[in-house]
Amino acid sequence: MLKTNMCGKLNIKNIDENVILAGWVSRRRDHGGLTFIDLRDSSGIIQIVIKNQDLNLNEDEINRIRNEWVLIVEGRVVIRQKGTENSSMLTGNIEVQVKNITIANQSKTPPFPINEEINIEETNRMQYRYLDLRRSKMLSNIKLRHEIIHFIRNFLHDEEFIEIETPILNVATPEGARDYLVPSRVHPGKFYALPQSPQQWKQLLMVSGFEKYFQIARCFRDEDLRSDRQPEFTQLDIEMSFVEQDDILQLTENLMTAMVKKINPAFQFKNPFPVITYANSIEMYGTDKPDIRFNLPIRDLSAIFANTSIKIFQNILESKNRIRGISIPNGASLNKKQIQVFNDIAINLGAKGIASIKLEDSFESNSPSSKDISSLLKDYINDEELKHLIDTLESKSGDLILISGGDETLTSEILGAVRVEAASNMKLINEDQLGFCFVTEFPMFEFSESENRWTAMHHLFTMPYLSDIELIQDNPSKVRSHAYDLVCNGQEIGSGSIRIHESALLLQILEKLGFDKADAEKQFAHMLNAFDFGAPPHGGIAPGIDRIVAMLAKETDIREVIAFPKTKTAADLLTGAPSEIDQKFLDELKLKINLTDN
Ligand code: AMO
Repeated sequence: MLKTNMCGKLNIKNIDENVILAGWVSRRRDHGGLTFIDLRDSSGIIQIVIKNQDLNLNEDEINRIRNEWVLIVEGRVVIRQKGTENSSMLTGNIEVQVKNITIANQSKTPPFPINEEINIEETNRMQYRYLDLRRSKMLSNIKLRHEIIHFIRNFLHDEEFIEIETPILNVATPEGARDYLVPSRVHPGKFYALPQSPQQWKQLLMVSGFEKYFQIARCFRDEDLRSDRQPEFTQLDIEMSFVEQDDILQLTENLMTAMVKKINPAFQFKNPFPVITYANSIEMYGTDKPDIRFNLPIRDLSAIFANTSIKIFQNILESKNRIRGISIPNGASLNKKQIQVFNDIAINLGAKGIASIKLEDSFESNSPSSKDISSLLKDYINDEELKHLIDTLESKSGDLILISGGDETLTSEILGAVRVEAASNMKLINEDQLGFCFVTEFPMFEFSESENRWTAMHHLFTMPYLSDIELIQDNPSKVRSHAYDLVCNGQEIGSGSIRIHESALLLQILEKLGFDKADAEKQFAHMLNAFDFGAPPHGGIAPGIDRIVAMLAKETDIREVIAFPKTKTAADLLTGAPSEIDQKFLDELKLKINLTDN
């Protein structure tokens, strides 16, 4: 090794030791004849002190040293003089007096400062990602990622799971997101697909008799990207045989609990994780990814307005839709602009707006009166309705009530988004809290308007409730499934299900999804055949590693916890991927590029 010690690991116990350190110049300060350098390596930073006169380098050479140059220094660890300690550095009470310096490499001026936590333009960061990763925040995020993966591997090993790698070059699947395709040279005109997840492989491994499998699995999906979606990402893929839903949920909870306690015990969360059915989640939180760190439940207000004089509410109820709302404690204090944001949410999602009622300070819960409210509905809502309203929403003076009605899905979306906005406006979110919960009983099918057919809400291997199987034919929207999500802070962290393990049931589901029998038998032959050779009952889950790390690093974008992520347009600005390729490769693959539209 070119060094004897790591910069960030030196401490008071090393006083008087001669050490050789190697790293990058993080910062330099000159004090006439004395040069102070913060030397950084992957473990942290130490101050080194160069007395210019007694060194192997002359003063000019020392003066040329700039940030990000690579130095190898030999010196003695000493205690810092009283008054010069730096409490913001872990090594702030010691320094190294340098006797010998080797300049191992020079550096151009970096395109952005490495040693300051400032906002840097995204494209710059991505183009120079290797420099971006030198920044302390990125270094600690990537280290955290390693710690988490290391923890997971140990935990599951101790639980007698075995890690098995599955193929990256796969057969394309007709369902799910769009595949990334790889043309085959050996089989011209044919393509492999990169795995969207190892779903089918892990089920096949259960048929093979590995009862407890896991994999830190790379997955690839060609879909629209967001802050929590990358085209290539990593799942903790888990599958077990002879389990029921509760076994998977319990394992997941045990793993997450132990992980958070080990990785960052400052986070607070509750055990057991609440289990909320999909239907209840949509009803109370307007979404299947509820943020349960705050209350603000959505309530059904339809009965209150049964005899309303408000025309728009009458129309909603007559068309058999519902009116729902939430109450924001102390929300009456929000200003006009803040309340307008709620209205804008509704409008952006496709509604005409959202009704608001401010309960003024003069408002009395015991004798509610519309004269004590501020609202466009003031003249149309009577005191009895008001009484019902505040009883249902448990509102009091100073609160703000927001009401939305109409199409179920739209109302849920609006109130769900309003709920989250209100919590952030009213500062109801404790950033040190993790709101873990499981959402269960997802519908098996959802109707896709764009494809004009039923699609699997989780995936097509998900086991429907056996008691609902008779509904598949005529009432598919009512079929519940043994699919479940792990949700935290309003984000889907993981998803899984108990699986179908019989070919007849799989065929029935495939037919409902619009496959004709011959097609289904061809495209899913490997799974159908395998299920006919004693497939055990099995189930699993796949939490997203990137999302877990981002959550524990308190980052809102998973790119902050991925060493080399893609941009929002799936490009890699560092290497230039995707790139055009030489004609000779296209010829080998027997491919022609046609860049015209359509
Ligand atoms: P699903 O598609 O719900 O399920 O994915 C499981 C988890 O993977 C993560 N995830 C992503 N993370 C980053 N970028 C993406 N584009 C992305 N897509 C998904 C999320 C998500 O909860 N085979 C099933 C799992 C199973 O049934 O066992 C599956 O892949 O955290």
